[in-house]
Amino acid sequence: MNIITTKNYEELSKKAAELVAQQLQQKPNSVLGLATGSTPLGLYSQLIKLHQSGQLFFKDVVTFNLDEYFGLSGSDEHSYHHYMFANLFNQLDIASANIFIPDGLIPLTEIKRYCFDYEQSIIDHRGIDLQFLGIGNNGHLGFNEPGSSFNSVTRLVDLSANTITANARFFSDQNLVPRQAITMGLATIMKARKIVLLASGIAKAEAVRQAVVGEVTELVPASILQQHRDVTLILDPDAASALK
Ligand code: F6R
Repeated sequence: MNIITTKNYEELSKKAAELVAQQLQQKPNSVLGLATGSTPLGLYSQLIKLHQSGQLFFKDVVTFNLDEYFGLSGSDEHSYHHYMFANLFNQLDIASANIFIPDGLIPLTEIKRYCFDYEQSIIDHRGIDLQFLGIGNNGHLGFNEPGSSFNSVTRLVDLSANTITANARFFSDQNLVPRQAITMGLATIMKARKIVLLASGIAKAEAVRQAVVGEVTELVPASILQQHRDVTLILDPDAASALK
């Protein structure tokens, strides 16, 4: 694992954007795996700046998002569709046909087929070149909660109580946080050619420590990253603080 500890969140975001720029320079039609949540917001602002100043173009880029709440429509302001368009895609030159985000309104009867097709669509695009991840306080990746199989693929999952509490800050009432989500699996994530995990803040320090130097166990989903050939962690000092 390559670990970069930055001075602060702004530097973390700039470093992450640099990695995107390098990737797109080498391969303008790269397939990017994207996350939502608080952590990548700085990265997305940096990408918008680079695009608006004519330094970075997304015309040929393809993106696959990690996850989406189950039961929310893409127009719901809490959906990850809404988040991605509001915080990134609306400001870029990316083609809408190249954007893939799980559909939270797929009927239960069609969900298996839908998840299979999502997985297949990644394969049809020759796999993810560069996958960005955040990490949950409980070590989750995407919505792969502790106990998720290392062999898991895209599927419908239940959110853990810890995640519901952590994500309640985005909702007016904790009871409004969806209880289920569609998420790429851990095996899906591990197939990406390069992985970059971003973590900021003291609340992530213990999860980062367990992911980096802890036992590789399904109880800490992020610990699977120890088995990937090309992982970079970009941390701020608080998130890195338990590593020493
Ligand atoms: C979001 C996702 C989650 C978050 C994680 C950290 O698409 O997959 O795993 O990356 O919960 O969230 P923040 O960045 O809000 O602390």
